[in-house]
Parts: sequence; structure tokens; C-alpha cells
Amino acid sequence: MAASWLKDAVFYEIYPQSFYDSNGDGIGDIPGVIQKLDYVKSLGCNAIWLNPCFDSPFKDAGYDVRDYKKVAPRYGTNEDLERLFREAHHRGMRILLDLVPGHTSEEHPWFRESQKEEKNAFSDRYIWTDSWISGGRGLNFVAGEAERASVYIVNFFKCQPALNYGFGRVEAPWQMAHDSPAALRTREAMKDVMRFWLDRGCDGFRVDMADSLVKNDDERKSFTSSVWRDVRAMLDADYPEAVLVSEWGAPKLALRAGFDMDFYLNNWGNGYSTLMRDYDQPVDNSYFRAAADRDINRFLDIYRDWYEDTRGLGYISLLTCNHDTPRPRRTLTERELKLCYAFLFTMPGVPFLYYGDEIGMRYLELPTKEGGYTRTGSRTPMQWKPGKNLGFSEAPSDQLYLPVDPASDAPTVAAEEGDPDSLLETVRALLALRHREEDLRAEGPFEALCTEKGSPFVYRRGSLYLAVNPSLEALTAPVDPEGRSPLFVLGGVSAERGGITLAPQSFAVLK
Ligand code: GLC
Ligand code: CA
Repeated sequence: MAASWLKDAVFYEIYPQSFYDSNGDGIGDIPGVIQKLDYVKSLGCNAIWLNPCFDSPFKDAGYDVRDYKKVAPRYGTNEDLERLFREAHHRGMRILLDLVPGHTSEEHPWFRESQKEEKNAFSDRYIWTDSWISGGRGLNFVAGEAERASVYIVNFFKCQPALNYGFGRVEAPWQMAHDSPAALRTREAMKDVMRFWLDRGCDGFRVDMADSLVKNDDERKSFTSSVWRDVRAMLDADYPEAVLVSEWGAPKLALRAGFDMDFYLNNWGNGYSTLMRDYDQPVDNSYFRAAADRDINRFLDIYRDWYEDTRGLGYISLLTCNHDTPRPRRTLTERELKLCYAFLFTMPGVPFLYYGDEIGMRYLELPTKEGGYTRTGSRTPMQWKPGKNLGFSEAPSDQLYLPVDPASDAPTVAAEEGDPDSLLETVRALLALRHREEDLRAEGPFEALCTEKGSPFVYRRGSLYLAVNPSLEALTAPVDPEGRSPLFVLGGVSAERGGITLAPQSFAVLK
């Protein structure tokens, strides 16, 4: 049973280094987030996921944590972060921090101790083999870096040694069991980190690589799941309002492991990319592209199964984008984005809006920064207003964390605000509608009513009918609106006994 505040939650993801620079050093910071809370709230977002803001050498933009209990100086102080919690709560908003439980930075004091030749309290905090040169048994490893005659297992980059939560199936003497004392100590250390921030007012965590903890797990990730169920028990007992959202991409497993929400990420061929990023082929067939040869079933086939299977356990989170994914504006026009967001924000579960997607920020082709590689182009500074650094920072432009969009028509909040046709105001209108209509919230039932190719996609949320037509022709769905009439329209609609007709590139909610 997920915390009740999620029923009407809409999240906004903030990449702290790129949101708002309050002190002119070229990097976004926590006081900057505080200054922009009213803006976030004005969108209709009542919760924030803040990407990692902890002390780090930033070889993976902060997903390489050096101190879990200290805010990175470039973002401010622990006191600033606590003030952010207070200021958010004061506005009825919640803050999730980003928890990276699977690995630390190679500069974390635990790892510095762990790599020593002499046995110590942290020797088994990470996963070490019994050879100095070989042998991850299928797991990625790094050799030649440690004092001890061992190689260590990594989760992602070389700088991210995997913490030791043990192994489900133990196949070698160096592999410890998932319930070995060392594995349990790692688990307790991570619970201690969570308590540290929950005690200071955070509302929960987005959990990085949540399925990665126990190695040699079975197909259902039973061992990793039991770690999370243990964490959940701690939350239920001491922090019943706290929530967890997983980077897992398998809600059937994650929601049973105790997560409140799981992201519908682009893995396991779940069809997410077919909505707006289907360009790894000769033609872009993204569902919301006007010219696509569209078929909503490429998404629904898996979505419906996952949705039906997890009802009542927690929520699937659909997202516009995140810091690892090309922004949807990379290929979608403003009109196409409106329809796409209309769909994402009227589906069940708890939606996530990535900062800047509400104004249609572009994906920029940029050289890598802090381990971003192709992800860098989605991490550029928020565009607040025309003029210097598009209002992100007072620093000289060549000192910004990343350059701002240089285009003369770079979208900004100031330019869109107050224009009812803008993407920004459309997002506001959609989110206001979602909050107003109880059927559109997380738990309102969902049913697909018309999924035929060449027809609008029509779906039901509770008593409401919704329809979307991304194509360039008017299309009719053979669905009787049963007396419902338009409540919210982008473009044009007519609803008659014979069917629901949508003008080209239109969306409608019928009540
Ligand atoms: C997750 C994060 C990503 C990071 C990786 C390693 O996928 O979203 O940004 O690089 O984990 O922590
Ligand atoms: Ca700053």
C-alpha cells in the first residue's frame, strides 16, 4: 500500500547543477532550487526528485558518492538542503533525494579502507575476488588499482565499485552469501544513510539501479527484493509517509519488493520508446510523430499487462524524459509534444516531468561532461528568460556547468508564460485538470477502448473518455461517447452517437 499522498502526486525532476545558479559561480545549487519552488508548484507539480547532491568527485555527475551524509559544496550545505525540505513542506510539496545504494565512488572512505592489504572493518564492504588479475565470473571488474591482491567488481564506471550485498547463488569462495554478516552490515549502513536524511525531513528516495544489489540473483530478483522488503519494513515502522521510486523498469517485481512506484523505463522492450523516441530505425515511427505509421499497441501490449498485474500494489511512473535519455523535443514538434504530454499526464500512476520539458527544451549535441557522454545533451541549464545565460546564472557564459541552448529561438519560461497556446501553459492546464478530476489521478481506473490502427486512440479513466489523434487527418473512432461532452480539448473534437471524431493532431477529454 503506497503512501496516500501519492494519489495526487505529480513529480518534477531537478538536475541540481543545471536548474538555477543563485550565487553566480556557474553551477546550479540548492538555494537556487528553493528560489524556484513557487515556479515548480505553479506547474502543478507537488513533488520533486532531486538528482544526487552529495559530496562526490563527479566522475558520473554525482552518482559516484564520496559522502552520503554531506551535500556537495558546489550545491550548498546540509543546512541548505534541510531548508529546502522545510520550504517545500511549507508549500505542500515533497522532496525525494537520489539514493545510490549499489555502489560508491572509489574515493569513498569505505573503499579507501576496503582496498587496503591489512584486514579491517571495511574489507568486505565491497566485492573482491581472490586473484589480483582475473576473475569476475561474468561481473565487470577492475584490476591493478588496489593495495590488496584482489580485483573489485564494479556496477557502472570504473570509479563505481559495487557494494557487497552478497550473492544469491554462491559459486566461488570469494562470493559471500546474501545473508552473510558482511552483506547484512552493508544493508544496515544503507538504512543508516536513509534514516539520516529522513530524520532531517526528506520525503523518500528515488533509488538508483535498485535491482543491482545482490549478485547472481534469480530471474525474479528474489534476493535483491528481500533487501528492499527489509528496508520497507523499516519505513513502515518509522517513516510511514516516506516513499520509494525505483530505477528498475519491472513494476511487477519492484512493487512487490516494497517500492511505491517504478519507472516505465525503456527496457525489456516495453514499448516506452515507441511513444516518442522510436528513431533507431530508417524512419521515425514514434507514436506522437504526425507522420508515423503509428500503432499504440506497441506500447499497450506490455503496459496493460504490467498495469493489470500491479493494480493496488503501487504505481507505474511514466516520464517525459530523465537525465539519461534524449529529450523528447529532439524529434517532436511543439504540437506533437502537447499531445504526448496530454497522454502521459492523463494515464494512471504517478507521472514525472523532467525540468525544461515543460517549455520544450532541446536536446543539444555536446561533448561529454562528468561521465555524461550522449546523456550530456539533456542536462543543459534551465532556460528561464531571454538574455544573459537565459537567466540561469550571472556567471560569464564560458564558466557555466554546461552551455545554454545557443539558438535564437531557444524556448524560455518568460516567453511562454501567459500565452495560452504555449507548451508551458498547456502543461499547466493539463496538470490542473489532472488534479481537478479525481478519475485522472493515480488510482483512477484505466481501460483502452479503441486501439485500432488508423483510428484515434480512445481510453477510459473512471467515468471520463479520452481520445488522442496525432495524425495529420481528421479521424473517427467507433466509440459511442454515451452522452459525454468535451471537458478539455487541444485542437478539435466532435462527439456523437456514431463515434468520436478528432481534428488533426488533437486531444480531448469527454465527461
Ligand atoms: C543510473 C543513473 C545514471 C547513473 C547510473 C550509475 O542509471 O540514472 O545517471 O550513471 O545509474 O549510477
Ligand atoms: Ca551556484
